[in-house]
Amino acid sequence: MIVANWKMHGSRQAVSSWISKVSENLDFKDSKLCIFCPPSCYLEYAGKLLNEENSQIKLGSQIVNESEAKPLTGGITAAMLKDIGADYVLIGHSEQRSFIRDGDTGIAKKIKESIDDGVIPIFCVGEDLAKKNNNETESFISSQLEVLQILSESQLSSVIVAYEPIWAIGTGLNADRQYIEKIHGFIKQYLKDLCSIDIYVPVLYGGSVKLENCEEIISSDEVDGLLIGGASLDPEIFSNIFNLS
Ligand code: PGA
Repeated sequence: MIVANWKMHGSRQAVSSWISKVSENLDFKDSKLCIFCPPSCYLEYAGKLLNEENSQIKLGSQIVNESEAKPLTGGITAAMLKDIGADYVLIGHSEQRSFIRDGDTGIAKKIKESIDDGVIPIFCVGEDLAKKNNNETESFISSQLEVLQILSESQLSSVIVAYEPIWAIGTGLNADRQYIEKIHGFIKQYLKDLCSIDIYVPVLYGGSVKLENCEEIISSDEVDGLLIGGASLDPEIFSNIFNLS
């Protein structure tokens, strides 16, 4: 599963050219999934183009709000996302946590409501550099994962987790494979302990993934996919990463 997170980039022209180039280049062997998350204002346009192309690329939103936040100027609910054909949504991204003060209670509600409305949450967790340097990564990530405790086991099986160390996002400094494996192993064990039944929750890695490091990261059994920001903008680079992963 490879996710393109465009953040606050793009235009109608860029969306259209990316979709046609990427649709042409992607090799969908092994039922690998590609999820495109453009800015919200281009979601419906992107969905229309993907339908016209009969593309296997899925549509994802970068944001959602909980419906009980009403009235909320500028808000978007999971039901609205489903209505325009988005099947996935990023929740808890560190940029949303820091810039719009997205907190655990709201994040928990958004995850639950998205699942109830048929939109699969990609729940982002990850530590900053100070926590990493203080050896607090695992305890911090446990505290972030706690929000999942409100979900039933069947709801939990609809969640995707993305591990994105904040110090690696947009810095060019990705976490190394050994470190990623350790943290992914920890996240998977946490999720296992939360459930009495065996469920599969994919864990993606994000943070400075690029053409040069994607193969090494994805080759780990602990890594179920990649969440890609900067390197997803160029259709050729993104297609190459997808096909190599
Ligand atoms: P990056 O961003 O690939 O540019 O580091 C990843 C993300 O924030 O999802």
